[in-house]
Amino acid sequence: MSKNLLEGKRGIIFGALDENSIAWKVAEKAHEEGAKFTLTNAPIALRLGKINELASACDSVIIPADATLVEDLEVLIDQSMETLGGPLDFILHSVGMSPNVRKQRPYTDLNYEFFHKTIDVSAMSFHKLLQTAIKKDAMNEWGSVLGLTYIAAQRNFPDYSDMAEAKAMLESIARSFGYHYGIAKKVRVNTISQSPTATTAGTGVKGFGDFISFADKMSPLGNASAEDCANYCLSMFSDYTRMVTMQNLFHDGGFSSMGVSYSIFE
Ligand SMILES: NC(=O)c1ccc[n+]([C@@H]2O[C@H](COP(=O)([O-])OP(=O)(O)OC[C@H]3O[C@@H](n4cnc5c(N)ncnc54)[C@H](O)[C@@H]3O)[C@@H](O)[C@H]2O)c1
Repeated sequence: MSKNLLEGKRGIIFGALDENSIAWKVAEKAHEEGAKFTLTNAPIALRLGKINELASACDSVIIPADATLVEDLEVLIDQSMETLGGPLDFILHSVGMSPNVRKQRPYTDLNYEFFHKTIDVSAMSFHKLLQTAIKKDAMNEWGSVLGLTYIAAQRNFPDYSDMAEAKAMLESIARSFGYHYGIAKKVRVNTISQSPTATTAGTGVKGFGDFISFADKMSPLGNASAEDCANYCLSMFSDYTRMVTMQNLFHDGGFSSMGVSYSIFE
């Protein structure tokens, strides 16, 4: 049931590919809560995905942008402010991709061109986005920028491969930029570390089916769904979390604090 939690807020949502995407759920719920936002994704994903359906349901404009290209991000931010009628209050960076994972390269035989791509798409794009936003003074005071991450940044999950390095960097960028954006404009920058979730990016990781059920058994609350994650994102965009910044926030049903659970023994 809507509470107009984001009434009057303007934002940009990256990364809605299809109805399984975490960003898709965030967009649906942000719309229900009264936010106005533009949707963006890489041009290729716009051709393959179903984002048009989401845009019409959310009364949103789609602005293509490759998150690795600063010139695309500049156009995206300018056009978003123009379309929405002013500076932004929230941005969701829900972007990740590793060619090494996609092509199932073993971690001990990575392709370094692919590795560069993984870092650029999944981590450096977050810095590019923040730097473009701060240069354009595109965020209102107390605005909130979120990236999505995974616990492989802290612990070893062998098949997560070079995405682990990308997520560690993404989380570090949130801390580093969070300082500067906080000082400059009281803008919050955080990452949410989400449970494994059955999306296009998630299921690309080898052994995902077994792994998602292991995480579910390990977590006292079970795995957090994409809908749960969207609710958490909304709370982080709202005024109820104004003093939270530079954090990596675990949203994982308790997984990150567990050693072993009885259901794993069974
Ligand atoms: N699914 C999981 O298990 C899980 C768990 C923790 C964190 N995450 C993170 O959540 C985020 C969203 O992923 P998802 O699970 O919803 O999967 P998804 O595949 O639906 O979303 C990933 C998005 O990244 C976009 N993207 C890829 N390259 C891009 C580029 N160059 N420019 C712009 N966009 C680009 C894709 O088009 C896609 O929309 C990612 O950062 C992912 O790593 C996912």
